[in-house]
Amino acid sequence: MKILVTGGLGFIGSHTVVELLNGNYEVVVIDNLYNSSIDVCNRVKEITGKDFKFYQGDVCDKDLLRKIFREEEIDAVIHFAGYKAVGESVQKPILYYENNLLSTLHLCEVMQENNCNTIIFSSSATVYGTPHELPITEESEVGNTTNPYGTSKYMNERILKDICISNKDFKAIVLRYFNPIGAHKSGLLGEIPNGIPNNLMPYIVRVATGELEMLSVFGNDYDTHDGTGVRDYIHVVDLAKGHIKALEKSNELTGISYYNLGTGIGYSVLDIIHAFEKENNVTIPYKIVERRSGDIACCYADSTKAYQELGWKAELGIEDMVKDSYQFILHQKQ
Ligand code: NAD
Ligand code: UFG
Repeated sequence: MKILVTGGLGFIGSHTVVELLNGNYEVVVIDNLYNSSIDVCNRVKEITGKDFKFYQGDVCDKDLLRKIFREEEIDAVIHFAGYKAVGESVQKPILYYENNLLSTLHLCEVMQENNCNTIIFSSSATVYGTPHELPITEESEVGNTTNPYGTSKYMNERILKDICISNKDFKAIVLRYFNPIGAHKSGLLGEIPNGIPNNLMPYIVRVATGELEMLSVFGNDYDTHDGTGVRDYIHVVDLAKGHIKALEKSNELTGISYYNLGTGIGYSVLDIIHAFEKENNVTIPYKIVERRSGDIACCYADSTKAYQELGWKAELGIEDMVKDSYQFILHQKQ
């Protein structure tokens, strides 16, 4: 089977390309290098010993998509390409809506022109907004999103649903990721955010390497076991494997299906700091500061549906997540 992976050189995409190649899928990647680097191609090849086709370009470019579908016989698409910084999306909503919506609209149009009817879409726990119940199931309310990034994910889900209604052959598998962290064991693939990181793990690793002085913990007065925010962190390799399971099961699915990909375990900010310190034998200086605007107290998944229907569950624990995140950064510095 030949799979087109959009955004395949990014953090989650690159790990998924590795799993696809290991599973003997043929892979075609399109990425405009907005948030990734061409080096990732060689790194993926080094890890897998296998090759794949790379098109450098924009998924919003319909002519390029048509060229790719003319040149390659694509059986299914995994659509990672998009912008993902929550704070930036509040500052630049048009940029976010344009990229995150046009990419999907153009991709689905060209897929249908070519009778390619299976798409796996990167959604996010952010579509649940402030959860009314925990753990969050796929039946939990969606749509009360709190920023343009989250709204763009929700709108993408609605677009895919409407396409599935209009075309009975078209199927969409929506994967709602919780908080992906970790890196490939080889130290060759991981997350390198531009500038000062917004997310917890990229910030912690830079404090560990001494690039940043101190972590700010955003609030310790939440209604959680130690007062700091609780999230469902998931190892990026587990997440990548979820896409392979979804692909394997896609023949049995029709219309649109939604799956939470998380571990079901909630860790607080302090839990993460302590696990990181213990596993990596480092100290993470931190201070408690005001809550970050827009943050919720607690978010973790019920991923039973993914287990029952896709046969997927997360296997790596917090120890692997914190170790692999740090090893990746150390590897970059060598
Ligand atoms: P990433 O930024 O590392 O990867 C996205 C890739 O897409 C990058 O390589 C970027 O260059 C590329 N890209 C962006 N717009 C493009 C376009 N128009 N055309 C071609 N390439 C384009 O992000 P990631 O963490 O790997 O996330 C992948 C997907 O998963 C995104 O859709 C993101 O919103 C979603 N997601 C991520 C998280 C997370 O915390 N990392 C959580 C939930 C959902
Ligand atoms: N946090 C700190 N200090 C920091 C950074 C984060 O205390 O410097 C705390 C936050 O307050 C929160 C937790 O660490 O309690 C996790 O924060 P992240 O920014 O790492 O992650 P979020 O849960 O806020 O959001 C992430 C992605 C979103 C995605 C969401 C759910 O950034 O894109 O997970 O998938 F939608």
